[in-house]
Amino acid sequence: MKGDDMEQTLEREKALRGGVPSRKMTVMSSSEKESEQVKGESLAPLIRVADYSFFYGASQTLFNVNLEMYENKVTAIIGPSGCGKSTLLRNINRMNDLVDGISHRGDILIHGQSIYDPHLEVTELRKRIGMVFQKSNPFPKTIYENVVYSLRVAGINNRTVLDEAVESSLRSAALWEEVKDRLEESALGLSGGQMQRLCIARAIANRPEILLMDEPCSALDPIATAKIEELIYQLKKDFTIVIVTHNMQQAARVSDYTAFFYMGKLIEIGETKKIFMSPSVKQTEEYITGRFG
Ligand SMILES: Nc1ncnc2c1ncn2[C@@H]1O[C@H](COP(=O)(O)OP(=O)(O)OP(=O)(O)O)[C@@H](O)[C@H]1O
Ligand SMILES: [Mg+2]
Repeated sequence: MKGDDMEQTLEREKALRGGVPSRKMTVMSSSEKESEQVKGESLAPLIRVADYSFFYGASQTLFNVNLEMYENKVTAIIGPSGCGKSTLLRNINRMNDLVDGISHRGDILIHGQSIYDPHLEVTELRKRIGMVFQKSNPFPKTIYENVVYSLRVAGINNRTVLDEAVESSLRSAALWEEVKDRLEESALGLSGGQMQRLCIARAIANRPEILLMDEPCSALDPIATAKIEELIYQLKKDFTIVIVTHNMQQAARVSDYTAFFYMGKLIEIGETKKIFMSPSVKQTEEYITGRFG
């Protein structure tokens, strides 16, 4: 990165973080550096789901879930429809707060800090967590304004900073070459696969730490899917990614760890290779070999 580019990036990051330079909120305790999930590797969990249960009204959707997700790794969440995958994902950035009558037990921690910590502003939390949905949802605005949306919301209007964010985010989302000459055109004129990559560019424009993806390829053709999968591989250098997918091959291709859920319970989590080659639990094997779900 050239000196000027670096300065702009730092300026953008500083503005987004309200002058707080560090990406991390707290230092991890030594116990958090231990993980039973990854034997032989000393990875620190970035996200820790601790004995977490979740309820929509009286209906319990997640049951005492314990799992860890690691920095710069891709964790895939798999399981049959209705098992609570999206619910877990949407709680990591507290999007489910918008639903009436919800409650939880247990905790979700990011860098050791509870996402429910009363000192933590939900808007600050969401700035650190980008989200991409099953159906791409570009705003009816130009390609440029879609990418810079979160920066504008954060009060950043400096054209140089915005231009830099647009180019770097679109490059990271592998879309720059396709749209660089039509940034002022409506995002709604893009193809489905391009729209999804635009949504990824929008989600990473404010440099979040975590990227949550809920079935990001399910509406895409195989070529667009392959592009997004390649992108996920590239993006994990900069982000920690959690992806929900119904596509077993996709989970096997893109993820480092796979968590299998069934009826709101985490049945098994481990290195993707292990889960697919020699799962410990029979239910996992039955699911990944297509015998149920
Ligand atoms: N807003 C909501 N209000 C009430 N119940 C909900 C709400 N959202 C989800 N649920 C229920 O929670 C359970 C888990 O749903 P969730 O969307 O998390 O499943 P999922 O594993 O993502 O399924 P799919 O693979 O079909 O997307 C389901 O029984 C669902 O009906
Ligand atoms: Mg879902």
